[in-house]
Amino acid sequence: MTLLDGKTAVVTGGASGNGRAIAETFADHGAAVVVADVREEPREGGAPTHERIREGGGEATFVTCDVSDYDDCVEAVAAADEFGGLDVMVNNAGIVGPQVPLVDLDFDEYRSLMAVNLDGVFHGSKAAALELVDRGGGSIVNMSSVAGMAGYGGITPYSAAKGGVRLFSYALASELGPDGVRVNVVHPGVIETEMTREDSPIVGTEEGEQLKATVPLRRFGNPEEVAGVCLFLASDLSSYVTAESIVVDGGNLNSA
Ligand SMILES: NC(=O)c1ccc[n+]([C@@H]2O[C@H](COP(=O)([O-])OP(=O)(O)OC[C@H]3O[C@@H](n4cnc5c(N)ncnc54)[C@H](O)[C@@H]3O)[C@@H](O)[C@H]2O)c1
Repeated sequence: MTLLDGKTAVVTGGASGNGRAIAETFADHGAAVVVADVREEPREGGAPTHERIREGGGEATFVTCDVSDYDDCVEAVAAADEFGGLDVMVNNAGIVGPQVPLVDLDFDEYRSLMAVNLDGVFHGSKAAALELVDRGGGSIVNMSSVAGMAGYGGITPYSAAKGGVRLFSYALASELGPDGVRVNVVHPGVIETEMTREDSPIVGTEEGEQLKATVPLRRFGNPEEVAGVCLFLASDLSSYVTAESIVVDGGNLNSA
């Protein structure tokens, strides 16, 4: 079954990790994909996402895009025209930022985190909304985190940004619903990417093993499991779902 035949998607942060899996899963389901990222090379190594998709017989292109810059997001959306125009926008690009108590955090560090994780979702959503309303509908999927559902000490700006993504998305869903544009949010727990291996190391650490033992499914997630939820939200399987959050965390947040 292919769920996105004839559709075109833009995936920000699509070079690596969750974004790479989202781009590849969408392509497997028939979508043409614009990979929009500050870098072409996957952080985890291997061939660039768009090249892998093309080698597999799919359609994809790469656009250099810093989501903290609105014009870059407009260009990424415009790149979808090559494949017939935008249908699905996944605002996935994100960074974890400094992991220090608030009192040790400079405002500049806070701002640079917000510029990517919250302003980036604003930019990508605005650029997409202008196009999708014109085209009569579509789907916007915004990447939050479990840290957008509960406050996580030590990463206050990250939590603030991800919580902001959640309510921003619900508000936007209210605005765009009458135009047939759905807006939903995905909240991963610990997913095995360079973010959790390198930037905020938890995978493979003692702390990580202890945390895993408290997860109902007793393991961390993989990017393909995030991508599966994004596929559902991008496709017509979720045609009556908007202003909704889906947590992808092995059951950790909602179980005692
Ligand atoms: N890995 C996890 O456990 C986890 C958990 C919750 C939420 N998330 C969210 O998932 C998303 C993807 O994270 P990941 O784990 O795949 O990380 P990652 O570091 O593996 O991949 C992130 C990608 O985003 C790109 N990127 C960074 N800044 C950018 C910018 N300004 N403009 C465009 N692209 C940019 C990077 O180049 C990279 O390709 C993020 O929004 C992250 O907050 C991840």
